[in-house]
Amino acid sequence: MEQLEKKIIFSGIQPSGCITLGNYLGAIKNWVALQDDYRCLYSVVDMHAITVRQDPKQLRQRCLEFLCLLLACGLDPDKNLLFFQSHVPTHAELAWVLNCFTYMGELGRMTQFKDKSAKHADNINVGLFTYPALMAADILLYQADLVPVGGDQKQHVELTRDIAVRFNSLFGETFKVPEPYIPKVGARIMSLAEPTKKMSKSDDNPKAYISLLDDFNVIAKKIKSAVTDSDGRVCRGEGKEGIDNLLNIYSVTSGESIASLEARFEGRGYGEFKAEVAQAVVECIRPIRRRFDDYMNDKAYIESVYKKGAETALKISQRTLDKVHKKLGYVARAK
Ligand code: AMP
Ligand code: TRP
Repeated sequence: MEQLEKKIIFSGIQPSGCITLGNYLGAIKNWVALQDDYRCLYSVVDMHAITVRQDPKQLRQRCLEFLCLLLACGLDPDKNLLFFQSHVPTHAELAWVLNCFTYMGELGRMTQFKDKSAKHADNINVGLFTYPALMAADILLYQADLVPVGGDQKQHVELTRDIAVRFNSLFGETFKVPEPYIPKVGARIMSLAEPTKKMSKSDDNPKAYISLLDDFNVIAKKIKSAVTDSDGRVCRGEGKEGIDNLLNIYSVTSGESIASLEARFEGRGYGEFKAEVAQAVVECIRPIRRRFDDYMNDKAYIESVYKKGAETALKISQRTLDKVHKKLGYVARAK
């Protein structure tokens, strides 16, 4: 009974690029913290991924790696539903319906569409344009209360709300209207190369981000070459975004407060500081990596996780889709 009353969380992660330290500290670590208090569903959104060209072999590998990393980071498949979007056909089916309740003008205003069509000018496909309608379907199928995303996805969640309200007012209460759930500041990990920009897995410069799958000596090198300043003091301050970011990373990976770190590094140089930051990051990632390797080698277990995830997700989402079809006036399928 208690299970039924828990609020529902849905989020999706695109299997593009690699999972970064920013994704882990800013998103996945928080998902792990939510798993006892909410009913959580997380999907590796492989259907969204093909809105830009993907190499099939690499896409398949990445989808599996992403799932294994989510498990390795501590998401318990008995507490969270984990599945591949393409395994649950209700997503595509509801997306079609929602396409018919979303306006060209709304989609044309989406910042991500504008950015991605500028970046991939040779492939401005219709899927890229209607991407938010598929995302709305992802969320609304599960009657989600909360959608934990980064600030960049807020606009898409707002459009999802508009679509839900529009449908509900035409056909009566059908969808729960979800809220975006944006992590507090502080969980924003910045680029190591340009510390005023967020660390992004799609950065062209691999030195800008740390992948959870980077070799440990590569991680140490990346931190060693992180952009700082010429002031020489390990503390926060204006123009010290690089050091601020490293302090933040050190603090969240080690659990030591920033004030305590500032005190401990007084009078010591950046070299020593960076070496310790690298050490803390490696120690934070090491157990995740060990578990990741175990999962990647246990094909049967992984298959059982995504099979069960997709089966349960289909059952839950089918209820919403049936309701939608009925409201639209479709003839019920013969049993
Ligand atoms: P994305 O990498 O854009 O697919 O984002 C996946 C999740 O990770 C989203 O919830 C983002 O908000 C979060 N995220 C991505 N980069 C960072 C970062 N540098 N710092 C904190 N959170 C991040
Ligand atoms: N568009 C999201 C991103 O790029 C991924 C995503 C797809 C998503 N469907 C979702 C996030 C549903 C939250 C809920 O990060």
